[in-house]
Amino acid sequence: MTGSIILWMRYETIRELLIPKIGFGTWTIGGQENADLTGDDRFMAALRSALELGYTLFDTAEVYAAGHAEELLGKAVRESGVARDKLFLTSKVSPDHLAYEDVLRCCESSLRRLEMDYLDLYLIHWPKQGMNLPETFRALNVLVRQGKVRHLGVSNFNLKLLKQAERLAETPLLTDQVSYCVPDRTYVLNGVLEYCQQNDILLTAYTPVKHRFVKGNKNLLAMAGSRGVSPYQIALAWLTTQPRVITIPMSLDPRHQAENLLAADIRLSEEEMQRLA
Ligand SMILES: NC(=O)c1ccc[n+]([C@@H]2O[C@H](COP(=O)([O-])OP(=O)(O)OC[C@H]3O[C@@H](n4cnc5c(N)ncnc54)[C@H](OP(=O)(O)O)[C@@H]3O)[C@@H](O)[C@H]2O)c1
Repeated sequence: MTGSIILWMRYETIRELLIPKIGFGTWTIGGQENADLTGDDRFMAALRSALELGYTLFDTAEVYAAGHAEELLGKAVRESGVARDKLFLTSKVSPDHLAYEDVLRCCESSLRRLEMDYLDLYLIHWPKQGMNLPETFRALNVLVRQGKVRHLGVSNFNLKLLKQAERLAETPLLTDQVSYCVPDRTYVLNGVLEYCQQNDILLTAYTPVKHRFVKGNKNLLAMAGSRGVSPYQIALAWLTTQPRVITIPMSLDPRHQAENLLAADIRLSEEEMQRLA
């Protein structure tokens, strides 16, 4: 394969933006619901190796390790010397903060923890029963106008909510970040994937390999064997081969990080895609 084809396979081009097909997730970096400061050396080493390997898209959230994931990510980026404009950083506002003043305040807090002056992408982490979506988007639109956020998106939104969010956003929504992997087709069945593909919205697949399915799926194992790659790479390539789908695996292990990043260079055939479906 030529270099330019590989480059093309590693990115989604959307409204003149080049978005990596494979980014790096940060759930459990820094702790889980609470900060776990005892693991900082291990977490920093993982972020350092991800940056050294060439990951440029990082996904975090205010709730990850109660903000500590953002602190560590910001620190790792600063220490790496990678220029801010070479990176694409996403954070998310928690469902408990979907009110005008709260959204503005939470974005400021995320920026403060990251020690950055803008986010590339800011998402509503989860919809919440009774949330005031118009008020939430009024604040999100202000953040875009102020330049604190470059793009807006949502996460865990079904089709009805996604369309509602689109109407309230002053700028095109960049993504709906949802659970999507070989055994989880919820957002195919509910129509979100097709809608995203038809309307220039990225579907960001989270938890792409965590479930135990990778080691137990005969098709994944057979394809990995015949191509001489790992079954995790096939599971990721099954996502990245699909138009408008990107994904954000998390790994603390530099060998896993490296193989995950390279999965974007694998293009599955129609027949292989069908076999996994
Ligand atoms: N928007 C939302 O509501 C939402 C929800 C969940 C997740 N997310 C985002 O999506 C990201 C990814 O999801 P996730 O962290 O839940 O699950 P994941 O990335 O599917 O799985 C992470 C687990 O898989 C293992 N792993 C990764 N690559 C591997 C490989 N090549 N070989 C063997 N094991 C591998 C890791 O272990 P090792 O460390 O040992 O490699 C880790 O335990 C999160 O970090 C977060 O940023 C968003």
